[in-house]
Amino acid sequence: MIGIIGGTGVYEIVEQGRDIDFKVVDTPYGSSPEMSLFKLHDKEVVFMSRHAVGHAHPPHMVNYISNIYALKKMGVDRILATNAVGSLHESIKPGDFVVPHDFLDFTHQRKSTFYDNRTVHVDVTEPYCSQLRDILISSGQTIGEGVYVCTEGPRFETAAEVNMYRNLGGTVVGMTGLPEAVLARELEMCYASICTVSNFAASISSNKLTIDEVFEVVENKRENLIDLLSDSIMKIPADHSCECGDALEGAEVNISLESEDL
Ligand code: HPA
Repeated sequence: MIGIIGGTGVYEIVEQGRDIDFKVVDTPYGSSPEMSLFKLHDKEVVFMSRHAVGHAHPPHMVNYISNIYALKKMGVDRILATNAVGSLHESIKPGDFVVPHDFLDFTHQRKSTFYDNRTVHVDVTEPYCSQLRDILISSGQTIGEGVYVCTEGPRFETAAEVNMYRNLGGTVVGMTGLPEAVLARELEMCYASICTVSNFAASISSNKLTIDEVFEVVENKRENLIDLLSDSIMKIPADHSCECGDALEGAEVNISLESEDL
């Protein structure tokens, strides 16, 4: 089953499907937002709105761990996530789509692992699913790589921070991509993100960034994004060519008492 985690304004993809149904699931971390189940291109798809109805949860308050657990519980093994981002480079413009291949995580108050009682270190050398990324990129409509910088928010960045993120190798900056990507990896799910560039990051093109300009670009690109998602869902084959499903292999510290030096 394919999961879509929608940022702002992509719910319309559900209306392209058939056999639409709705579901809320309970998780150890709270209940999920209402999810929409539907069939698209003969595939089972679940849509989840990241911020819940009406953008109720700001980025730092989203229950990422419950969202990912709920999708896993629904039987989702592949996630396509959408995120709005600011561009850290003049050459990447509002309206562009970026499919990140790596991230820099500057979040600091989010529950970011399922493994508090087991010692599990998942490998994130390549944090996004290579197969899903290839499918998104094959549309020819995206910038096929980039480093996603995730901030805690909810404020936008200072000019000095934007400068630092760019110097560290960041391509775009957003507030919602993490810990989502890592939590999906911890549950051995494929995860890729399609980022809509909604603005130049603070200080790059103007002295004041407003949420109105962010929403305006997201709204203008909504139809393209939905087409891109729909096209990608059509192209996802049954077989996995990636290693996301084996993420826990070799990740866990497993020392039995007998072998320990006491
Ligand atoms: N910074 C952080 N998050 C964002 C931005 C930005 O410029 N644009 C959209 N989400």
